Amino acid sequence: MVHKIVSAIDVGTTKIATIVADIKSQGNIEVLGVGVVPSRGLHKGIVVNMDEAKTSIASSIKEAQTISGIRIDSAYVGVTGRHVSSINNHGVVAIPRNDRLVRSRDLKRVLSASRDLPVPEGKKLLHAIPRYYTLDGEERVKEPVGMHGNRLDVETHIITASVSSVQNLVKCIRSTGIDVDDLILEPLASSEAVLTEQEREGGVVMVDIGGGTTDIAVFRQGNIFHTAIIPVAGYQITSDIAIGLGLPFNIAERMKKAYGNVTPGMDINKEATVSGIENGHSASYRDLCDIVRSRMEELFELVLLELPSTDCRTLAPYGLVLTGGTANLEGLDDLGKAKLDIPVRRGRPLSAGVHGITDILNDTAYATTVGLILWQSNNREKSAWKVRRGGLFGGIGNLMKKLFHI
Ligand SMILES: Nc1ncnc2c1ncn2[C@@H]1O[C@H](COP(=O)(O)OP(=O)(O)OP(=O)(O)O)[C@@H](O)[C@H]1O
Ligand SMILES: [Mg+2]
Repeated sequence: MVHKIVSAIDVGTTKIATIVADIKSQGNIEVLGVGVVPSRGLHKGIVVNMDEAKTSIASSIKEAQTISGIRIDSAYVGVTGRHVSSINNHGVVAIPRNDRLVRSRDLKRVLSASRDLPVPEGKKLLHAIPRYYTLDGEERVKEPVGMHGNRLDVETHIITASVSSVQNLVKCIRSTGIDVDDLILEPLASSEAVLTEQEREGGVVMVDIGGGTTDIAVFRQGNIFHTAIIPVAGYQITSDIAIGLGLPFNIAERMKKAYGNVTPGMDINKEATVSGIENGHSASYRDLCDIVRSRMEELFELVLLELPSTDCRTLAPYGLVLTGGTANLEGLDDLGKAKLDIPVRRGRPLSAGVHGITDILNDTAYATTVGLILWQSNNREKSAWKVRRGGLFGGIGNLMKKLFHI
């Protein structure tokens, strides 16, 4: 792969993170700048107020530009939200010619056969990722082109998303004068940053618990097997603490981060209290932890319901990898192990090949941000969305920028 500079915007419910990186070669990435600002105008992963979202996105981009010294013209963007759904579908074609040689046009035909399924009104195909091919009954062929056979089958992971939700997101980004290079489903991006090849091969569940959504991806035999989005995450925990303990939201948020502990069976002194950083707010430590733990228990139950099988040991012998900002919660790994009965580890997004201005990225909250760049460096599938670039308005905007250096 040729060296290239790419940017990505992780439009999260609580923060917007823009990253500029130089992909020097596969697995060798220099981060040139990161701009992180609090997010406004988003709810449960989707844009609900275009003006507010646009302002936050623009300031995150500006910060990344200032730090990197690079002008961002376009970026890869993550998609999440409960409007996303996924299914595995099958396609089959005959190889009609005498030589029975599989050519790239046969691959195209079989992929298009596997994509041919009814998409609900208002939804569109976001990804169609081939999982594996079968040639004349020979399973798990990775590269069928150039091989001989009569019948080619493909298993494809199909992801659909709401046209209006995605259009609003794209519109917000483009209104800041930036083109969208491509869209990537967030759990796919996060997985890219936190999973090892061995885990994907052996079977693993990746759960990214953010502020507004919990993004799930299951990998088996090296390929994506299942994706799902639950519209519940850290924001709802804080909101429950605020209501349950009669605290302002920002104090509840600080207390959750500073004192929240969900270790199962933890014995907490009934009298212990915790205090807010300011304004003299205080609460019972036990009450605080009880609220956070019961919310997280519920969340793991929702995760179990979203998995294709409740037998996690068979589905994912390599265990559960927790990431996203909420994965910072103390004791969450032990709680996850107790609930899903598989090994649990936290997935930090920084791998050996990512260097440069990375200090801020060494937190589980940045799995999607880093993953959006890794998705490109690892040459993963382009989305099926076909985002419109430039256009009359965008074209003129970019020309003006070039002429007037704005
Ligand atoms: N130490 C901590 N303990 C508990 N929760 C934490 C901690 N640190 C961060 N969080 C929570 O993580 C959440 C933010 O995570 P993240 O940055 O991954 O979300 P996001 O990308 O903005 O949102 P989403 O991906 O859901 O749209 C917040 O709810 C925050 O309270
Ligand atoms: Mg996120």
